[in-house]
Amino acid sequence: MDDNQRILVIDDDPGVRDAFKEILASPATSGIAERGAALFGVETPSLPSCSLQSYELTLAENGEQGVRAVEGALAQHQPFAVAFIDMNMPGIDGAETSRRIWAIDPQIKIVIVTAFSEYRPCDIINIAQRDDIFYLRKPFNSEEIKQFANALTNAWDTERERVILAAKLETVNAELEDMNKNLQKKVKEQTDLLIQSEKMSSLGVLAAGVAHEINNPISFVHGNLDTIRKYSASIKKLLQKYSRLEESALQGASPEMQSLLTEIQEFKARHKIDFILEDIVSLADESLEGTRRVGDIVKELRGFSHIEDAAPQPTDVNAAIEKVLNMIGGKLKPKTEIVKAYGELPPVTCYPQKLGQVFINILMNAAQAVVENGTIHISTSQLMPAKDDDPPGVEIRITDNGHGIPDAEIPKVFDPFFTTKPAGEGTGLGLSISYDIVKSHGGEMLIDSSEKEGTTVRVILPLDAEGRGTS
Ligand SMILES: Nc1ncnc2c1ncn2[C@@H]1O[C@H](COP(=O)(O)OP(=O)(O)OP(=O)(O)O)[C@@H](O)[C@H]1O
Ligand SMILES: [Mg+2]
Repeated sequence: MDDNQRILVIDDDPGVRDAFKEILASPATSGIAERGAALFGVETPSLPSCSLQSYELTLAENGEQGVRAVEGALAQHQPFAVAFIDMNMPGIDGAETSRRIWAIDPQIKIVIVTAFSEYRPCDIINIAQRDDIFYLRKPFNSEEIKQFANALTNAWDTERERVILAAKLETVNAELEDMNKNLQKKVKEQTDLLIQSEKMSSLGVLAAGVAHEINNPISFVHGNLDTIRKYSASIKKLLQKYSRLEESALQGASPEMQSLLTEIQEFKARHKIDFILEDIVSLADESLEGTRRVGDIVKELRGFSHIEDAAPQPTDVNAAIEKVLNMIGGKLKPKTEIVKAYGELPPVTCYPQKLGQVFINILMNAAQAVVENGTIHISTSQLMPAKDDDPPGVEIRITDNGHGIPDAEIPKVFDPFFTTKPAGEGTGLGLSISYDIVKSHGGEMLIDSSEKEGTTVRVILPLDAEGRGTS
């Protein structure tokens, strides 16, 4: 940026103005000074001078003229760096002129030119309302004026530079703050992801161990119960045959035989043998159901820890959802309306069994959240890549108008074992298993919910999840 060499002299004495001209104006600046005269209606130096330093000089005869010159210069974006102002002038004096000039241009450096005995500095400061004012005592010599002009134009330039630098610094600071905020947001997102995957992987290891340990004993308990059930059916048949034998033996039996038979009948009645025979079968049935349920949990845990490794295959996601709906249809509350809006989807290469498990979990949650006459919307659509390097994919949205999830609980729903359902009803694994399955397919699972309004779960899958499902 060019140095500001513009100087304003305000003095009613033509001799003083001439002296300033002699000392400060140079031939190089006379043209500029003439333009200044045309603009501000003030006097301009036309005489050549031998000054080494060249200043653009504007001369005013009184305070009002000087203030107008400052206004005009500002409007032209050509502010003055320095003003030499005579203290004692007709009209407004130098102190008042300074006050008015500073009111419109606070940057200008002001030098008050005064005779020794005229005014006390504190009087001038009181009127000008600033104490950074300089004084030049009359009679002055040319060196003094040059020094003032040189030092103060330099000071003006330095200050302007400082202001520009401060503004730049502020912009840089704001940018830095912005970057910092973005960085913090990114770190938080990454940390959340890490925590989530850390939870998942440690649970996966635990689940694999538990699944392995439980699977063996539960399978032989299940097998044995099945055998007991079959045995008890045979024993029941045998005892029925004995009962018939007892009936026929009673007729015409010896008294000894009769008392033995009566003893047997009494024993049977006392010990409710008929009831026991009936009950053994239902006890075995209930136990078998119990072991089947344990088996299901083990299977879920195995799925969670990716024990089941099948090959990924091209899958029609709409058909996979239909299959799941057929399976869970019986578990929906009466009159739950299912509204489907299947889009046309390309096949998704994935693990269909695992994907089915994801849809079961989401749909079961939706079915459990709605009341009678509730609605579950299922929609699917193809996702067009927003950027060139985004993989093409599909989106599945399942929305229910159930009880929704309180804001505070939303971040927890993917946590393993987080459940709000009564003990025995939910394991709290449904969504965490589903989340892991979707992630292992390279996809995203997102949940959005408003209390009392409902919940939307979105599953986003890349078309090609091959090779990722076994991570
Ligand atoms: N559609 C939904 N509407 C309301 N709350 C939901 C919904 N889906 C999930 N939740 C909340 O998230 C919790 C965790 O869900 P998740 O499926 O992981 O476990 P769960 O359903 O409780 O048990 P599980 O699925 O093992 O039977 C639920 O207990 C419930 O509070
Ligand atoms: Mg669930």
